[in-house]
Amino acid sequence: MTQKVQIIIDGKTSELPVLQATMGLNVVDVRGLISEGIFTYDPGFLSTASCDSSITFIDGEAGVLLYRGYPIEQLAAQSSHLEVCYLLLNGELPTAAEFAGFEQEIKERMFIDEELQHIFDGFNSQSHPMSMTCASVAALASCYHEGFDIYNAVQRKEAAFNLIAKIPTIAAMTYKKSIGEDFVPPNPDLNYAENFLNMCFGKKGAPAKVSPTLAKAMDRIFILHADHEQNASTSTVRLAGSTETNPYAAISAGIAALWGPSHGGANEAVLDMLTEIGHESRIEQYVAKAKDPNDSFRLMGFGHRVYKNFDPRATVMQESCNAVLSELGLDDPLLKVAQKLETIAREQDYFIERKLYPNVDFYSGITFKAVGIPVKMFTVLFALGRMPGWLTHWDEMLSNGFKIGRPRQLYLGPVARDYVDMDKR
Ligand code: SDX
Repeated sequence: MTQKVQIIIDGKTSELPVLQATMGLNVVDVRGLISEGIFTYDPGFLSTASCDSSITFIDGEAGVLLYRGYPIEQLAAQSSHLEVCYLLLNGELPTAAEFAGFEQEIKERMFIDEELQHIFDGFNSQSHPMSMTCASVAALASCYHEGFDIYNAVQRKEAAFNLIAKIPTIAAMTYKKSIGEDFVPPNPDLNYAENFLNMCFGKKGAPAKVSPTLAKAMDRIFILHADHEQNASTSTVRLAGSTETNPYAAISAGIAALWGPSHGGANEAVLDMLTEIGHESRIEQYVAKAKDPNDSFRLMGFGHRVYKNFDPRATVMQESCNAVLSELGLDDPLLKVAQKLETIAREQDYFIERKLYPNVDFYSGITFKAVGIPVKMFTVLFALGRMPGWLTHWDEMLSNGFKIGRPRQLYLGPVARDYVDMDKR
């Protein structure tokens, strides 16, 4: 029996169906409201489900994150980023043969066309890597546009292979550009994370000695970032994709949205904040700033729209961070500042009442820094990890019936009025 809710508008009762979720919250289907001449109002979409999806499930109260039903903790411990890419795209874990075939598809597509590499000639060493990444992914649309049929599942799969394969190469190119070094070509003999680190820290003709522990830690971080249901950048990809635009253009829109410090840009902002705090003795004054309603300063890496308990990714990330620092024998004072900041914040009513906990971005930056990744590259690595999630949501939307995303508004502007000639104003 379908559950329903009743609403009474100007004395008239209407019934709206309740759609059942397999896990988590059910939803009230408000699509019929337009025929009653009324909109719902929800800026920031705090209470709005923009779509139905079978990809990722988050329980913010319980700190649960599932990719296609598999807990993030198990995937981070036992899987690889490429296997998670396959899982997200196909809905099931691959057999050995399926994984080998998928891995080959990716290895064949890691190179960036010689001609397209010249886009980097337009950047300089001060260009922000996120700007270069966004532009380069959009530029891929110039190579893959004519004849692209977004309703052809095989062509959509090809775009997904292309972007999963090329995003590490583009990311490494932005790093090399920012340090004025020659690009290092992809090496298909290395695994996904090793290849990325080699393209960053290797030299042309002189491969880097990539530590398997660091590569594993980097791969685990990519897994943690792979998807997160309808976050701002994924919603941007869906909205752009709903206009039937080129997939590379839709993904570059997602990269642009991710860049913001309230979203993926937080990992860069966390390191800048920890560096500015500098020492445990200065933490209290920054916590006071974060609590001051008249101060726009926020503790970067804290809080989340959905997680009102711990972010399960932050827990795994902190373990990764400790493993990398001990592998490198590093004793980063910023880690001590971060751990002390977390302890202090989580003891204070302001943060407890607002359920503000460290999120995925709080410890990732310290790990990236330990591996030798510069701060301005942090959000590029987030984009690298999130690529399969964006592509899977885009593909899911196009595989099912969809409508162009076109929200309405509560209008608070002037009522209709007549034009007045300038000499009469
Ligand atoms: C990501 O959505 C996703 O899934 C995103 C993500 C993903 O994987 O895609 O998880 C990745 O973007 C993680 C979040 C990274 N951003 C940051 O770390 C930036 C710092 N955090 C925030 O600005 C904030 O917490 C948000 C943006 C993450 C969430 O904002 P909300 O849900 O809109 O909450 P809000 O701004 O309405 O805040 C509620 C209250 C406010 O206080 P009051 O007005 O009630 O007194 O909590 C306060 C806020 O001032 N608050 C903070 C705070 N975050 C919220 N106060 C101090 N420091 C903070 N970090």
